[in-house]
Amino acid sequence: MIAKTARPADPCSLVIFGASGDLTHRLLVPALYNLGVAGLLPDAFALVGVARSESSSERFREDLAKSLPKFATRKIDNAVVEKLLACVAYVQGGPDDPQTYDKIAQELARIERERKTGGNRLFYLATPPAGFVPIGCHLGESGLAREADGAWRRIIIEKPFGTDLASARALNRKLLGILKEDQIFRIDHYLGKETVQNILVLRFANGLFEPIWNRNHIDHVQITVAEALTVGRRGSYYDATGALRDMVPNHLFQLLSLVAMEPPSRFAADAVRAAKAELLDAVQLETRDEALRNAVRAQYVEGAIDNRAVEAYRATRDVAPDSTTETYVALKLMIDNWRWAGVPFYLRTGKALRTKLTEVAIKFKQAPVAMFRDTPIENLTQNFLVLGIQPNECIGLEFSAKVPGPTISIGGVGMTFKYEDYFEAAPSTGYETLIYDCMIGDAILYPRADGIEAGWHVVQPFMDAWRDAGGHGLATYRAGSDGPSQADRLLAQDGRRWRAIA
Ligand SMILES: NC(=O)c1ccc[n+]([C@@H]2O[C@H](COP(=O)([O-])OP(=O)(O)OC[C@H]3O[C@@H](n4cnc5c(N)ncnc54)[C@H](OP(=O)(O)O)[C@@H]3O)[C@@H](O)[C@H]2O)c1
Repeated sequence: MIAKTARPADPCSLVIFGASGDLTHRLLVPALYNLGVAGLLPDAFALVGVARSESSSERFREDLAKSLPKFATRKIDNAVVEKLLACVAYVQGGPDDPQTYDKIAQELARIERERKTGGNRLFYLATPPAGFVPIGCHLGESGLAREADGAWRRIIIEKPFGTDLASARALNRKLLGILKEDQIFRIDHYLGKETVQNILVLRFANGLFEPIWNRNHIDHVQITVAEALTVGRRGSYYDATGALRDMVPNHLFQLLSLVAMEPPSRFAADAVRAAKAELLDAVQLETRDEALRNAVRAQYVEGAIDNRAVEAYRATRDVAPDSTTETYVALKLMIDNWRWAGVPFYLRTGKALRTKLTEVAIKFKQAPVAMFRDTPIENLTQNFLVLGIQPNECIGLEFSAKVPGPTISIGGVGMTFKYEDYFEAAPSTGYETLIYDCMIGDAILYPRADGIEAGWHVVQPFMDAWRDAGGHGLATYRAGSDGPSQADRLLAQDGRRWRAIA
């Protein structure tokens, strides 16, 4: 994480594969610009774009100069743009073609001579997953990623990291055959969000929470990542993926592990990553029958979001008209360890929901109500600690208070801390900290191989059960709603209720 006294990153070259794509233009280059504005990019820096599309270094630079103002999250400072684009090169070539890597080697040799980047190289694999193995293998075979003479060589790999347990294991095995674990940075951009990083600080820098952060005081936890967006133009990717694969083993499990992990012994990459992996390893593995009982999957049908008509998922371009891919998933998970035994964790995520909302809500146990036995229990406010991540970055506490008046009457009240009231944070893309951390070799925000595999291990029984069930048990929900009624029943059978998506 970027410290207050952060220094500029090490001199280096950044080689982006998939440089003609959306991620590079919309997020990565604007993130580099923001690092430049913050004085965190090294003076000796070079950017090399690699893709199959026809272009040249000159055209790529012009292309970035045009797209940057469009996607920048901060006011454009021409001096910073000029400095950032001062050393931009483009290598045209396919991921399977050895000549591509010869050309990259030539460019890097020139850059390292002229710019004195010290031979440090960061390779960012911003391609679809089909590119990960061929590019990784060629970087290994060509020697481009071999560390020598004190220079570091690191690789950032985009998500999705595998499509199931077997493929994630195979990808890890392949990469670890070429590179050392400390050269591999598997990115999950959720961890670039300040509010997600703050979960660690909230839990471990405040003496207040840790004593009550366990099964004695916590009734259950709800983790919600709701999107109001539809599948849009990503039909072919999404139909082969679904909500579970797209969101749960990565983003939702990052939130789950930060909220539920044991305190790491040190605030250092290996200790934090080990604690997170250990937590995921403690999630109870479900049999297929249990998986069917403890999960809800659903698809949106036509509806309206913000008064805008939304077509049904199955009517989306590049989606099979009889698709059984879920656009919504809700899971009940249990964690088999001393801290969390008996505390359900309910996770839900979906597309085309009423609004965009990411939050972790921790529900504390009910107080003994003997004193208020005349007050119906549903009138007592449930004690929720809510960590708001999107769109409101906040921490809220909901509790009961006496309504003023001669009788004892109880009302629900809340206290909310909003980040914007205390801190001035310049709008960012979410990639700044992650790229900077990789450049300084800090992997604290990057999941390790064991953490990734532990996540897939947990979701595999759900995927297997649904594959066998086909369309059977697939629920529907109206676009613009809070999700399917079956998800409400998942909690109702435990005497609980989801918080509204609002
Ligand atoms: N865009 C986002 O907001 C976002 C957010 C989070 C994660 N990601 C991840 O980032 C990666 C890139 O996403 P994107 O949205 O930028 O995708 P994109 O625009 O479709 O693709 C990026 C570029 O990769 C190249 N490419 C396509 N297929 C390839 C292959 N088989 N091997 C090597 N290169 C290939 C293409 O360039 P050429 O045809 O010119 O070679 C394309 O311009 C994906 O893994 C995605 O899951 C994206």
